[in-house]
Amino acid sequence: MQTLRTTSLQVRDNQLWILDQQALPQQKNWLPAHDVAQLVGHIHALRVRGAPLIGLSASLLLALLAEAGASRDALSQALEVLRAARPTAVNLMNNLDRMKLALAQPDFVAALSQEALRLVEEDRQLCDSIAEAGSALVQPESRLLTHCNTGGLATAGVGTALGVIARAHQQGKVASVWVDETRPLLQGGRLTAWELGELAIPYRLIADAMAASLMASGQVDAIWVGADRIAANGDVANKIGTYSLAVLARYHQIPFYVAAPHTTLDRQCASGRDIPIEQRAASEVTGVAGSFGSVQWAPENAAVYNPAFDVTPAALISGWVLDTGVVTPEAVAAGVFQP
Ligand code: MRU
Repeated sequence: MQTLRTTSLQVRDNQLWILDQQALPQQKNWLPAHDVAQLVGHIHALRVRGAPLIGLSASLLLALLAEAGASRDALSQALEVLRAARPTAVNLMNNLDRMKLALAQPDFVAALSQEALRLVEEDRQLCDSIAEAGSALVQPESRLLTHCNTGGLATAGVGTALGVIARAHQQGKVASVWVDETRPLLQGGRLTAWELGELAIPYRLIADAMAASLMASGQVDAIWVGADRIAANGDVANKIGTYSLAVLARYHQIPFYVAAPHTTLDRQCASGRDIPIEQRAASEVTGVAGSFGSVQWAPENAAVYNPAFDVTPAALISGWVLDTGVVTPEAVAAGVFQP
């Protein structure tokens, strides 16, 4: 396969490499993702993360394994193992459905490779279209708030919600960005803060619990988040903590926008209640681990609740900003996402 490079994925010498998103921003380590076990391990550990990126990494790996001589049966098994690597982000399943069609072609090696590269290129374009559509909604002098990480690290392009923010900043409309640190795994504090710094966009990092008082004091003009799955009724699964922001936004009458590619839409999922929510290890809540080492502050064997995502009901969302344009609450209520 040709050499390929996104912010956090590389194909070189016919092998897949990932930028370790757990070590960022202190260390920039490119790790091998040369077989299914390695990539699934990276996905479980969130070294590869973000809804679009996990789908793209799995698709590229399948294509590379095919080029290296894996049989159709072996690839079919690999595809199902990769599909199960994380349950909530539907981009993984959607991308792998397309790879499965390619695997059924007579020349599956060429078909898989073409499809994986097409998915990467499409994702770049989807991000661009989202940024264009979303930035039109950003008012001059905006103080925006975002949660988790939805930038170039999580996609093949400029990102989703963060792509909107970056485009609006280029247009001179962003005064500053409030970055939720995003406990427990700190994607905001580690990754979004780093990306905004690289883009020279002014930001201030906050602990998640500080968002309410900022809204109450009139310091947030709009909230922009990404999505891991959008149900047919418009409910949105996204990083844990998103729902609290949406409730707060409604109370304070602040627009709350979700930015995502159409590959995040799951028309078969009737509502948020049908979206599987990943439960994660207790150790993520009892302490913190990173490139600096690990520390535990909770008592040994503390009982923990640790869902990775929550569901924001459609009724709290001001607009779904897709690559196809802005979808209004009226359109969602009229069934535009229904099968
Ligand atoms: O657990 P993560 O870090 O993969 O969660 C990521 C999110 O919730 C993002 O908002 C979502 O995947 C969109 S990324 C463009």
